[in-house]
Amino acid sequence: MEAAAETQRVQTLVEAGVAHLPPRYVQPPELRPHLSRRSSATADCGGIPVIDLGPSGGDPAAAIGRACREWGAFQVLNHGVRPGLLEEVRAMGSSFFRGPTEAKLRFACDPRSPASEGYGSRMLAKDDGVLDWRDYFDHHTLPESRRNPSRWPDFPSSYRDVVIEYSNNIKKLAQTLLCMISQSLGLPPLYIEEAVGEVYQNITISYYPPCPQPDLALGLQSHSDMGAITLLIQDDVEGLEVLKDGEWVQVQPLSDAVVVILADQTEVISNGEYKSAVHRAVVNAHDPRLSVATFYDPCKTRKIYPAMQLVTKQSPLKYREVLYGDYVSSWYSKGPEGKRNIDALLISH
Ligand code: OGA
Ligand code: NI
Repeated sequence: MEAAAETQRVQTLVEAGVAHLPPRYVQPPELRPHLSRRSSATADCGGIPVIDLGPSGGDPAAAIGRACREWGAFQVLNHGVRPGLLEEVRAMGSSFFRGPTEAKLRFACDPRSPASEGYGSRMLAKDDGVLDWRDYFDHHTLPESRRNPSRWPDFPSSYRDVVIEYSNNIKKLAQTLLCMISQSLGLPPLYIEEAVGEVYQNITISYYPPCPQPDLALGLQSHSDMGAITLLIQDDVEGLEVLKDGEWVQVQPLSDAVVVILADQTEVISNGEYKSAVHRAVVNAHDPRLSVATFYDPCKTRKIYPAMQLVTKQSPLKYREVLYGDYVSSWYSKGPEGKRNIDALLISH
């Protein structure tokens, strides 16, 4: 029975025609998305900042600093990723998820180990939590020693080449953004990149099938990302939300934009000047939704700690040093629950 549950894909449930949400996917009342209340709150708020990195956008550093301080998330335009590539990545992902189940299961991840590469559905190793209404494909893309395209889908035929080009393009953009973020903190441009060390990059394509009772479920539970920075693209279906001053705010889908989400290690390095964004994905009854998140993480043996230049009398040391591997283990075994994991590093004064 448990083995069957472990390999269950949400898309398979939907294709079998479930009319009601199976109990494992029902969120407790306090975590449900309140779809009707959310839309009016979003309309008032305007959404996360959209920043133009192109030559006509002026100097983006100040806008980036403000967005990191106030939101921990923003969207960028004219970001230097090859025009057309974002659409190719989305088309590649949806073509995989539209494929036959048996073909997809050839690339199934190992359900017993967290963050294993491949086609899966469950984010956490623990067995007792509410499940997300999401299937995904996780690719290990950097450093190149972890990159083994034979573990990635071979349909459509361009799949593996597109992933490699996207991985390289997004690495460059992430480095550019980390430079700008470092400078906006008054640190040397390479500070955060050097604090993170060699980049461990994973690319996760998430597929959120239509949900029979979207007001009872979440596509992805509330969390902050555990690494340094996440760059995400989405199709034209709404669903990603960022928590701001206690309200969930919709991230408007913009086809040419890349969504930038600050993750926990950048919050630690900035000594809490910048916050990692708490975010989640909601689902809807009619349209499947696709997103592609690229995570820029430290190596598990890396120690992460606040930049001493940012520790002053007015802003004393806020976080304990952490071995990144320990942080990851705790995240996967306890679950994200908003920002509980980073809160465990807080130093009390
Ligand atoms: C993630 C994530 C949001 C989305 O994969 O960490 O937050 O919209 N995804 O898929
Ligand atoms: Ni996330």
